[in-house]
Amino acid sequence: MRRHGAPAEAVAPGCLPRPAAWREDPYADALDSGQGPLFLRRSDGWLLPLDVERWCAAPDAADQSVLARCRGAVLDIGCGPGRLAAALAARGRRALGIDVSPAAVARTERLGGLALCRSVFEPLPGEGRWDTALLIDGNIGIGGDPTALLGRLGSVTGPAARVIAECVPVDVDECCEVRLDNGSGALGEPFTWARLGARALHEHARVTGWHVTEEWSVAGRVFAELSRRPQTPSSGARGPGCCPDPGRAPGSGPGSAVFPVPGAWSPGPRRGEGCGPEPGSGG
Ligand SMILES: C[S@@+](CC[C@H](N)C(=O)[O-])C[C@H]1O[C@@H](n2cnc3c(N)ncnc32)[C@H](O)[C@@H]1O
Repeated sequence: MRRHGAPAEAVAPGCLPRPAAWREDPYADALDSGQGPLFLRRSDGWLLPLDVERWCAAPDAADQSVLARCRGAVLDIGCGPGRLAAALAARGRRALGIDVSPAAVARTERLGGLALCRSVFEPLPGEGRWDTALLIDGNIGIGGDPTALLGRLGSVTGPAARVIAECVPVDVDECCEVRLDNGSGALGEPFTWARLGARALHEHARVTGWHVTEEWSVAGRVFAELSRRPQTPSSGARGPGCCPDPGRAPGSGPGSAVFPVPGAWSPGPRRGEGCGPEPGSGG
C-alpha cells in the first residue's frame, strides 16, 4: 500500500504536518545504498550516529525479542526500510508499516512488507483497532513530544493493545532540534526529536494513560512494553515536560553528559571540515 503524490502539507484538522526532513536526500540516499554514515546533528554541532546498516539488515536477536512479543494486528510506526514489517509479513502476521519517507516505504515493500506513506499523526487505517504498536530504533522520539505520541497511540490502538518502545540505554529525557547529516555536507531540514531512557518512558507513559508492564534488554538495546493503565480518579496528571524545557539545554540530561556511551551524542566536526572528532567543539 503506497500513496503517491499526496501534498506534503496536507493534514487533517488537528493533526501535525509531516516532517519534511525524513523525506529528503540524506535519508533517502542512505536507504538506497543501505548504509551510512548518517547522523542526527544538533544545532550545537554534536552528532548522534544512526544505525542505517542495522536498519537495512535482517532482524537481529534484539529485533527477534520484539517480534516474539507482537500480538494480533501490528502497526510498525516509523518502519524505516521495513525489516520488522517484512519479517512479520513473512510469518503470516497482519502488519502495516507507516513512514513519512517514500524511500522507506518503497524499501519495505521490496522486502515483502505492507507499508503506507503516512505520518502517525494523520488518520490511519484501522484507527482504534491495532493490537500492537511498535516504536523501535528510537521512534518514541517521533515528533519530539513523547507525550503527544503516546497520547496519539491511545486512539490508534485497541483497548487491550500493547506498545513496544525502544529506549535509549542511558538515563535521558531530552527533546531538541536536529537535522539529518550525511557527514559530507548534505543536511536535511531541522525537526524536533526526543530521546528517552527507561525512567523517562515510565513517566511519559504514566501521564498518557499507559504503564510499563515489561522491560528487557538484548545486546545493549533496551525495550519496554506498555499497556493501558486502569483509570483512576487522579489519572491525567500533567506531563513530565520533556519539551520544551527552557531551563535545560538540549542533551544536558545525565545520559548525554556521559561520553562515550552507546546512544550518546559526540562532538561533530565544524561544518566544512572532515568527519573526525574535534574535542571541545560543542556540548
Ligand atoms: C530512527 S528511524 C527508525 C528506523 C526504523 N525503525 C527501521 O527499522 O529502520 C525513524 C523513522 O521514523 C520515520 N518518521 C519520522 N517522523 C514520522 C512520523 N511523524 N510518522 C511516521 N514515521 C515517521 C522516519 O522517516 C524514519 O524512517
